[in-house]
This record gives sequence, C-alpha cells and structure tokens, in this order.
Amino acid sequence: MILVTGGAGFIGSNFVLDWLAQANESVINLDALTYAGNLENLDSLKGDARHIFVKGDIGDRTLVDELLAKYQPRAIVNFAAESHVDRSIHGPGEFIQTNIVGTFNLLESVRAHWSKLADKEKTDFRFLHVSTDEVYGSLSKDDPAFSETNRYEPNSPYSASKAASDHLVRAYHHTYGLPVLTTNCSNNYGPYHFPEKLIPLMIVNSLAGKPLPVYGDGQQIRDWLYVKDHCSAIRRVLEIGKLGETYNVGGWNEQANLNIVHIVCDLLDELRPKDDGNSYREQITYVTDRPGHDRRYAIDARKIERELGWNPAETFETGIRKTVQWYLDNQSWVNNVLSGNYRQWIEKNYAGRSE
Ligand code: NAD
Ligand code: TYD
Repeated sequence: MILVTGGAGFIGSNFVLDWLAQANESVINLDALTYAGNLENLDSLKGDARHIFVKGDIGDRTLVDELLAKYQPRAIVNFAAESHVDRSIHGPGEFIQTNIVGTFNLLESVRAHWSKLADKEKTDFRFLHVSTDEVYGSLSKDDPAFSETNRYEPNSPYSASKAASDHLVRAYHHTYGLPVLTTNCSNNYGPYHFPEKLIPLMIVNSLAGKPLPVYGDGQQIRDWLYVKDHCSAIRRVLEIGKLGETYNVGGWNEQANLNIVHIVCDLLDELRPKDDGNSYREQITYVTDRPGHDRRYAIDARKIERELGWNPAETFETGIRKTVQWYLDNQSWVNNVLSGNYRQWIEKNYAGRSE
C-alpha cells in the first residue's frame, strides 16, 4: 500500500480517487483536516476497505512512526501543506509549521523507518514530495518558462515555506540516501477545488450574484493544469522517476487572470444563463492587488515528457468546461463548504481591498 498525506484536500483527494480507480493498491490517507481538508471529497470511497483514513498531523512523529510500522507502505506521496498564498500573507506561522517543520518531522520518521528496511524494500521505497512552480519566483513577459534548473527565488511566505521543504527533501537524499522524488507543478484546477482560489471562487461568486474580485490589473499570468493530469504525472513519476530528481509538471496553458475570469463567465452564460439575460462578466470588480504578487508563472514541462513520456490529456477548453459543469452539478458540496469559517476568511481577505 501507499501512504498519502493531505489526501482530503483538493489535489490529494483527486489523487486518492484516481489511484483507487486505476490500481488495486490500498491507500492510508493521513490528513489533519484543517479548513482545507474535506472528507466529503472522499464520499464515494465509503465502505471501500482499500481506503484507510487517519486524522492526524504529518508533524506528529509518534503517530507517523506507528503508521509506518503498522502498514509498511512502499511509498509516500506528500501533499499535506498550507497552500493558499493570501492566507500566508495574513498569517505565515502555520505555513512555517506545516510546510517546513511538518515536512522535517515527516522526513525524520520516514528516514528512521526506511533505514531499518530489508535491502529489497529499501531499494523499492519512494518518498514523493509534491511542490509548486512558485518556488522559482516570478517571470517577466519574455522570460523562458521555469525549468528544473531555474534558481529558487520564492517571494511569498507560502512559496518560501515550500522552497524550504523542497530543500529538506533534497538534503535527505544527498545526505542519507532517502529515495526521494520531487514534482513542481503549476496552478491546478478541477473538481473539489476549495473556493478560496481563483477559479472556484469566480464560479461560486458568479452563481451567488457576488462581485468577482480581480486583483490589480488582472494581467498576472498562471499556467493552468487540470488536476487529473497532475495526478497522472505523479503516478508516472512514482513509477519510473529517477531518484533524487525533480520534475516540473505543467499544462502548457498560460493565461492572464482576467482571461480566466472571462472564460468562466462565458461558460456560465452558456450553461446557466442569468434570468435577466445579462452576462456574469458584469460582476467583475477590480480590487487592490495582493502584496508581492508574482507577475507570471510558466512551466517548461519538457523533461517529464522526454524522460517519462508524460503529457497532459486535457486542453484548457475541455478541462475548464468539465470543471464549471462539476460545480453546477455539485451545488450541495459547494454549500457545505461555505461555512462560518469560510465566510470569516472572505471577510478578512476582501473587506480591506478598495475597488
Ligand atoms: P489544499 O490546501 O486543498 O489541501 C491541503 C490538505 O493538507 C488539506 O486536506 C489539509 O487538511 C491537509 N493538511 C494541512 N496541514 C496538514 C498537516 N500538518 N498534517 C496533515 N495534513 C495537513 O492543497 P492542494 O491544493 O490540494 O495542494 C496539495 C499540495 O500541492 C500542496 O503541497 C501544495 O503546495 C501543492 N501544490 C498545489 C497547487 C494548486 O494549484 N493547488 C499547485 C502547485 C503545488
Ligand atoms: P490563486 O488561485 O490564489 O493561486 P496562486 O496565488 O497560488 O497562483 O490565485 C491565482 C491568481 O488569481 C493569482 O494571480 C491571484 C489571482 N486572484 C485574483 O485576482 N482574485 C482572487 O480573488 C483570487 C483568490 C486570486
């Protein structure tokens, strides 16, 4: 079996669902169930003995030691993290705690376990760390896309904490020989995406008749990757990735934020037209920019294509249509997510932004 951390979050839950649909290998899912963790994402696995959920912290050495000893997973896929840049600006402490200290503790538990394994198990063991393109910093318009050899230049508390965790993972390979793999992917989108992030926030606010808050001039560029493509990339890296290597994963799909918002509005106009016949685009409002906002991210995904034969299956057109349709079809999931905590966050992040 494999151990997945953060498997109740957006990408982690997609990965667990995808894994169990593809392979008959059980998953232990360790997740602290922070505001971002949602067991409803995994509802379809109720009664499936191949999914073992454990509520707990990756930084809890006693718990992780016990899980490793009890289940003897052959691999660990580490998704658990604080993941939202805006939250890291309001409160960086939890990012340091989970992304750096938590990853360190997890690595320590894994190292202690791995070092005692028999030769064959030791050789076959994998620790795959899921990271982000944001560790590379910000590109200008004409810069080439990020490759694996780009310097780390993180600009937000979030990306700095992820960069630190990547460095620890690397060091555990070089120093202790731990069989690690790291993936750095671009912005994901798709089902179960928590509506604090751009795409689901725009869908949810559109349907609720609320403003669509575009930061600054809306010309910041992100490189969007459909979450199921990300899952297939991780499976491939786990299967045949070269130990100690990092792989950039992207969707070959750079888009300015404003363009993304327009596409979402246009799809909603088509799939759920407003009663008054107006476009959802009319709800767009420009708000004060995010401090230190990175201008452009772009992933050069040629290494994973060349060495591991991976390519994304979705284009943005197909992926965003599926995504918008998923939100329309899963209104009860959305309503359950919009709890008191969520409303407090929206108030905190957007109240101070003048239009
Ligand atoms: P998410 O915020 O939706 O989910 C994170 C999950 O981790 C949640 O279920 C949460 O409960 C859990 N968690 C948080 N702290 C924990 C702890 N201390 N111990 C155990 N579990 C804990 O995040 P996501 O969007 O699914 O991202 C998953 C990973 O992918 C993260 O490492 C993130 O940095 C990386 N990533 C995400 C994106 C993206 O576009 N979402 C892009 C690049 C990289
Ligand atoms: P986000 O989804 O938070 O991902 P990240 O910061 O990790 O790239 O934001 C994506 C882009 O959308 C980013 O440039 C910030 C912008 N954005 C807005 O313009 N308005 C919003 O309300 C949010 C949440 C993000």
